[in-house]
Amino acid sequence: MKNTMKLEILAQSVNESFARSTVAAFALPLNPSLSALSDIKTAVSEGVTNAIVHAYRDETDEDKKKIFLEAEIFDEKGRKGIHIVITDHGKGIEDVPQAISPFYTTLDGEERSGMGFTVMQTFMTDMQVESEPGKGTRVTLTKILDEDER
Ligand SMILES: Nc1ncnc2c1ncn2[C@@H]1O[C@H](COP(=O)(O)OP(=O)(O)O)[C@@H](O)[C@H]1O
Ligand SMILES: [Mg+2]
Repeated sequence: MKNTMKLEILAQSVNESFARSTVAAFALPLNPSLSALSDIKTAVSEGVTNAIVHAYRDETDEDKKKIFLEAEIFDEKGRKGIHIVITDHGKGIEDVPQAISPFYTTLDGEERSGMGFTVMQTFMTDMQVESEPGKGTRVTLTKILDEDER
């Protein structure tokens, strides 16, 4: 079994829960455990929140503040899971290794913990971050589920 989806939303905080719930609903055919589902929701929430609060900080044209979400679920040959790609066309990240290190944040004093990437890395099986300053950022998240997970 394989299925794919794409979603385009504006980078507004109201859309964070929409994105999180949509990906969770899309993952349901995998019969994920509640704990796996909760991990996926938490990771999507962190990734989308980053695109909302960081990516378009310098963008004044509201219509340009877009987040692209893609997901693929698969259950084949004894391997099942989900790939999620969160893309923005925002300001990008100068130094990705520094950005993903625990407690690093460029928004000190604004209730950001600098733990978003660490949470995504911890809760998912894999995380890849590609970014180009001035062009945008793409975060790819993978969660492999246990075969007997019900
Ligand atoms: N989509 C993004 N676009 C631009 N910068 C980003 C993006 N996501 C993360 N960053 C940068 O990486 C840093 C670390 O992100 P994160 O670990 O989620 O911590 P926090 O969001 O609490 O600052 C952010 O402070 C920001 O500078
Ligand atoms: Mg964050």
